[in-house]
Amino acid sequence: MDYIRIAKINDFKNKHIKSFSLFGKKIGVVKRKDNSFYAIEISCKHQGADLTAGKIDGTVATCHRHQWKYDLETGKCLNHDSPDLKKYDIQLRGEDLWISFLPLDEWFT
Ligand code: FES
Repeated sequence: MDYIRIAKINDFKNKHIKSFSLFGKKIGVVKRKDNSFYAIEISCKHQGADLTAGKIDGTVATCHRHQWKYDLETGKCLNHDSPDLKKYDIQLRGEDLWISFLPLDEWFT
């Protein structure tokens, strides 16, 4: 699997989530309380709004447009029948965060 450098650890000094564009897709990189990271699609499955623009409480993001809720750690939508947000592999290399080109569910398809 190929990876691309997406951020630096210092980008998360005062933030726990940031959104990035990766090949036209919005990806959220999230810093956990234990300082580990994960990466997940951050566009709402309803109409594509950026979930970082809404309320984020712990791992639960509420879309600011029509209040669909997602668990960002699992990718599951919590209040609608919706496909999961896609998760990406993320690796820490020195001070840099690298993300997989493809979401995890597309690695072997
Ligand atoms: S665009 Fe997110 S709930 Fe409608």
